[in-house]
Amino acid sequence: MHTPHIRTSLPGPRAQALLARDRDVTTPSYPRDYPFVIDHGKGAEVWDVDGNRFIDFTAGIAVTSTGHSHPQVVAAIQAAAEKFLHISSDYWHEGQTRLAEVINRLAPMKEPVMSLFTNSGTESVEGALKLARYVTGRPRFIGFLGGFHGRSMGSLAFTSSKYTQQAGFFPTMPGVTHIPYPNVYRPLLAGADQGEAVLRYLEDVLFQSNVPPGEVAAVLVEPLQGEGGYLTPPDNFLPGLRKLCDKYGILMIADEVQTGIARTGKMFAVEHWDVAPDIMTLAKGLGSGLPIGLVVAKKRIMEQWKRGAHGNTFGGNPLCCAAALATLELVEKEYLANVNVVGPMLIEAMEKLMAKYQIIGDVRGKGLWIGIEFVEDRASKKPARAFVDKLLHTAFHNGLLLLSCGASTLRLMPPLMIDSAIAAEAVAILDASIAETLAAA
Ligand SMILES: Cc1ncc(COP(=O)(O)O)c(C=O)c1O
Repeated sequence: MHTPHIRTSLPGPRAQALLARDRDVTTPSYPRDYPFVIDHGKGAEVWDVDGNRFIDFTAGIAVTSTGHSHPQVVAAIQAAAEKFLHISSDYWHEGQTRLAEVINRLAPMKEPVMSLFTNSGTESVEGALKLARYVTGRPRFIGFLGGFHGRSMGSLAFTSSKYTQQAGFFPTMPGVTHIPYPNVYRPLLAGADQGEAVLRYLEDVLFQSNVPPGEVAAVLVEPLQGEGGYLTPPDNFLPGLRKLCDKYGILMIADEVQTGIARTGKMFAVEHWDVAPDIMTLAKGLGSGLPIGLVVAKKRIMEQWKRGAHGNTFGGNPLCCAAALATLELVEKEYLANVNVVGPMLIEAMEKLMAKYQIIGDVRGKGLWIGIEFVEDRASKKPARAFVDKLLHTAFHNGLLLLSCGASTLRLMPPLMIDSAIAAEAVAILDASIAETLAAA
């Protein structure tokens, strides 16, 4: 494909020089797919160090919700930086309290909530697990196959989207039992109703045979499963899980680290099913790129924590709080609505590509959370892993940044401010890149 915005071979000379330096001094553990070296970004576009321009359909793994360097977010960070850079969670400041107030207004719990400030998704998950154990006095947890919750020893005990994240690290936190996540396209359990099948497995099989429900502190669930393949559960799943939790006094922790902050077309994804979790974890899109996360819990749960039970040094950093407040204002005012305009447009475009290319087995998603699963053939549904790896590279060479998830799913997760013209440009690049990758096979 001739892409006017790509001016050098990739990686260009400056990118190559940096990659060579980096190879000697940076960990090889990062799962990097292709050699993109950023110079700067604006909105949904990024430029590399050789002056090549790309459309960013990754948003820094669903993080830059307001786009790269939104002027209002940058101004808020600059204003905060002029005042003080850090004070620690031992003290108070306006930005932190105000952010907790905004979250109290927005949270899907249907009752007052409190927040604990963190620096990342995994740290939010650790906080949620500790809170659940602390208030229930119960030792066990339920997680889901295909789930991703982070890489520290508590969250890693749940993470099961790729075995490479586990290999070499056992034992992690004990007491976690995994059950299948409802997968409509590739069911792990028998039955036409995958939501019901999973709930029956939990209550009628697991709770009867191995895990006493009275010992379970919480179920940790992604409202839509992210790294495991961008799966949307059937409508009965989360409401049914909520009921089961209530029946056995188990807390429901919704991990909204990736789905939260309007990514799926609601401020929080559980709102699609009108489900109120007891605890919710946030990070990623909350700060438009600044590292901030939250453990949000019903007030009657979090207020049980005694002084000193949990905390950290950097949580509630003033620059991060300023970025989050500016982000939430923009998302509430403009970008939530935009997600519900551009998202359906992209889904429709992907369905057209599915009609055109046999190699696409499934298109799914909500808002700007879209999964396109590639299969060797539609009958066997064998994952087309090698094809997706090649497609990521081809799209990169054509000026489009993409990431995959699951076995062979491409995920579209552009910044929430993306306009339909740039989205259409990305669709054209993706279309051409699929054709090119097929032709090269
Ligand atoms: C649902 C979910 N939870 C937790 C995490 C971990 O977040 P972090 O990488 O900030 O630790 C991720 C990251 O992808 C995620 O998608």
